[in-house]
Amino acid sequence: MRLDKLLANMGYGTRKEVKKLLKTGVVRVDEEIIKDPKQHVNTEQNQVMVHEEIVEYREFIYLMMNKPAGVISATEDEDDETVIDILIPDDQVFEPFPVGRLDKDTEGLLIITNDGKLAHHLTSPKHHVPKTYFAKINGVVTEEDVLAFEKGVTLDDGYETKPGELTILSSDELSEIELTIHEGKFHQVKRMFEAVGKQVVYLQRIQMGDIHLDRDLEPGEYRELTAEEVDILHK
Ligand code: URA
Repeated sequence: MRLDKLLANMGYGTRKEVKKLLKTGVVRVDEEIIKDPKQHVNTEQNQVMVHEEIVEYREFIYLMMNKPAGVISATEDEDDETVIDILIPDDQVFEPFPVGRLDKDTEGLLIITNDGKLAHHLTSPKHHVPKTYFAKINGVVTEEDVLAFEKGVTLDDGYETKPGELTILSSDELSEIELTIHEGKFHQVKRMFEAVGKQVVYLQRIQMGDIHLDRDLEPGEYRELTAEEVDILHK
């Protein structure tokens, strides 16, 4: 990879800014001062240093966010803050994007990465990656609802959902449930409850595949996935 590209990717500025930086003689490749932006470096073999600091090059970033309500799961939005806006600049330089979408008012597990292949795998309808949600429901959730979801329900546009596994945590005027679904239609959980005459009043994703929401993350907080979690996602 070209040295200027590497440094720009790692957040040392635009290509133009990096070129200026190189001119000042503060960049060394394997101890040798390099001023040529076109210089090729092998990210596996060469050691790049800027101002005596080693540049740890990596291509991909994998983050787990506890998405807060009120923020859009997209890279850009004209009116609202996005999940990318609330990342620190050091993470934004990787140009990551959210894997799949949560509604503006939905909280919980959101994976954010710049690994397009992995994102495609996780969101492709072909792979049926299960997603589990915790929800508060206006109305008494019953065993009949469990059976209806097990068979699949008909959404407002006529779409027949695949079976979903509904677990009732508490059933009252305001019920609490967990629901696992294997597809991701627009507003799917909310519309599945509408199909049985009930309304979701709070929704939080707690699991995607084998990745669980880290309960130490407050809404709006995020952390890097561990190496084990990244491995799980790739399997
Ligand atoms: N289902 C919904 O209705 N909303 C979400 O954000 C995710 C799943």
